[in-house]
Order: sequence, then structure tokens, then C-alpha cells
Amino acid sequence: VCLQTANSFGIKAQAHRLLVIDSVQQLIALYEAFQHDDELANLPRLILGGGSNLILSDFLPHLVLKVAIKARELIVETSDQFIVRAGAGENWHEFVQWTLAQGYGGLENLSLIPGTVGASPIQNIGAYGVEMQDRFHSLTAFDFVTGALKTFDKAECAFAYRDSNFKSSEPNRYLIVDVTFALPKQWQANLGYGDVAKYLTDIGITQPKPLDVSAAIIAIRQSKLPDPAKIGNAGSFFKNPIVSAELREQILQKFPQCVSYRQTNGSFKLAAGWLIDTCGWKGRSVGPVGVYEKQALVLVNLGGATGAEVRALAKDIQRTVFEQFAVELEVEPVFV
Ligand code: EPU
Repeated sequence: VCLQTANSFGIKAQAHRLLVIDSVQQLIALYEAFQHDDELANLPRLILGGGSNLILSDFLPHLVLKVAIKARELIVETSDQFIVRAGAGENWHEFVQWTLAQGYGGLENLSLIPGTVGASPIQNIGAYGVEMQDRFHSLTAFDFVTGALKTFDKAECAFAYRDSNFKSSEPNRYLIVDVTFALPKQWQANLGYGDVAKYLTDIGITQPKPLDVSAAIIAIRQSKLPDPAKIGNAGSFFKNPIVSAELREQILQKFPQCVSYRQTNGSFKLAAGWLIDTCGWKGRSVGPVGVYEKQALVLVNLGGATGAEVRALAKDIQRTVFEQFAVELEVEPVFV
């Protein structure tokens, strides 16, 4: 099976087997099949949502499980929250737009993030001052070890910056079936990050509603980030690194314009995009893999890139950033 259209980087990967999962019944049947088919049970598994945070190798000996479980509903309205649930296979942006159309604010800063609802907790997606964990209530996942469904509350997910236990401690043990969000009735705009507030005042909006914030975020993202339907990419390719106050100080002496954000523990988050840009990478390419011309943090597929070529450019970037700043950049998407 060719996965080229199933991953946003557009890598022409071939997978051994692909199963589309659209119900829990199907997962139970698959688990039962594993009990008397060792060959099937022993295949490495790859759980695929929108494929927007993956860099694939040319050939995957895997059983690929493409999650297509659909549903979106209001579970309950409490005095201060709307509790809303969505199937893991729902497109994230369409789900966000649906909540806004129902009049539930809270997810607007996460507009236009590619991928599915079920993938959103795995790396705790975040943008413009909001992380998924800020609106997360709970999730249901199918456990391939026990064959049963399990509910996870927020603490059990161990969310961190672009991370959770599903990404780092037990990848592929659980298949997320649905995610429940708690959306505040006392809504307040979150405009603290970057250009969002400026964008709104420039177009004359001083008391923005959730849909206004969503429209602003969509416009800002479209101006900076490549549309994966047109140019293959996996969003930010590196995490923004956290460094000590001493290292930041050393960097500032040489580069006073270095972008950094103070963390609560006294360390600093640096803008990886700025570090890469300053090393001169923006707009450059090596073979079919490029550094996006408007945002150095995004690697793009100029046509026919392989996972190995992407990895090679990522390594070059890591090396030059380390030589220049003594900062180690950590890759953000998952390599399979
Ligand atoms: N910058 C440069 N040159 C560049 C890119 C950025 O100088 O080529 C500077 C910018 O001028 C800005 C700073 O770096 O001062 C930060 O850039 P930006 O606001 O564009 O955000 P980011 O740190 O590059 C992060 C997330 C994005 C998210 C935006 C908005 C990570 C790894 N990335 O990007 O998430 O959309 O903030 O919240 O945390 C993703 O995870 O795939 C993603 C796109």
C-alpha cells in the first residue's frame, strides 16, 4: 500500500498492510485476530491519524491502522463548561470550526492545525498561547495489551510541551478512540502571543469573539506556514529548545537580537526558527528537501523527498546550530 497521500510530507512510503479503523468493534475483532494469528500480532504497528507529524521510511513492514472513527457531540453542559467529545478520526480543524459554530469558544487559537482529533493529545498540539491540554478533559483509548478500553484523565496523559506519555513512554500501545474537551462558558480571548492582538486591532476589532480570533489565527498561519496540500511539510520540524540562563546570556552577548522567552523555573525557551534562520538556512535546499522561505522552522518537500533525505538535512541543521550556539535542537515529528 502506498502512503504518499496519507502523510502530509508526501513521502512515497510503501507499507506492508493497511487497515482503516472506524469503530471500536473493529478494534475488538482485530485484538481477537491477534490471539490466534501470531504473524499478524507480531507485525510492528503504526497508528495513523492525519499523518501530519510523521517522517516515513521508504518501506514500512508495519500493520498500519488508519483511524477514521467519527462523531462529535455535546456530552453535558455544566454551570461553567461545555463538555464536548469527538471521535479520533475527525479532522482537527473541522472539529474546532464545529465547536465555534455551536457557540463554544476555547479552541479558536488552535485553528488550522493539520491532523486529527485523535492525534492532538499525542504531542499536545499548541499554538498562539494555548495548548490542547488547557482544554482537555479526558480520552478513551483501546489498549492493545489488555484488549479493553481505558479512560485517561489529564494527569495520566503526562502532557508536556509537544509531548505526552502516548508519544514518549508507550508509543503504539494505545489507540485513541475519542477525546473529550472542557470548554469554558466564561470565555476570554487569549491574544498574548505574537501578532494576534495587532492583527485584530489593525482590522478594527477591539472586542473579539471566538470566531474573530479563529479568523485571525487562520490568516496569520496562512501567511507563515506552507499549506501541506500544496507543499509537503510536517509543521515545525524542531522543538523550541529550553536553555539555561547562562547559555542564553552567552548567546545574547554575540547576538543581542536573539529571541527568548523566560520559563517559570528561570530557564529560557529560544526560538528554534530564529536560530536556524541566523545560521543562514532559510530558503535553502539540499536535493528535494528545503527550509521554508518564510519560516526556517519548517522543512518542506520540494518533490520526491525520501525520509532519509529529510533526516540528512535535519542533521545538518542540528550540527550547524550546535556549532554556532551550543544549543541542541530536538526533532519534533516522529520518524518511522
Ligand atoms: N523567527 C525567525 N526566523 C524564522 C522563524 C522564526 O527569526 O525563520 C522568529 C520569529 O520572528 C519569532 C520567533 O522566531 O520572533 C518565533 O517564531 P513564530 O512566532 O513563528 O513561532 P515558532 O516558535 O516558530 C511555535 C510553534 C508552532 C506554532 C507557533 C505559534 C513549536 C515548535 N512551534 O512556532 O507550532 O504554530 O509557535 O504558536 O513550538 C508546530 O508545532 O508544527 C507548529 C507550527
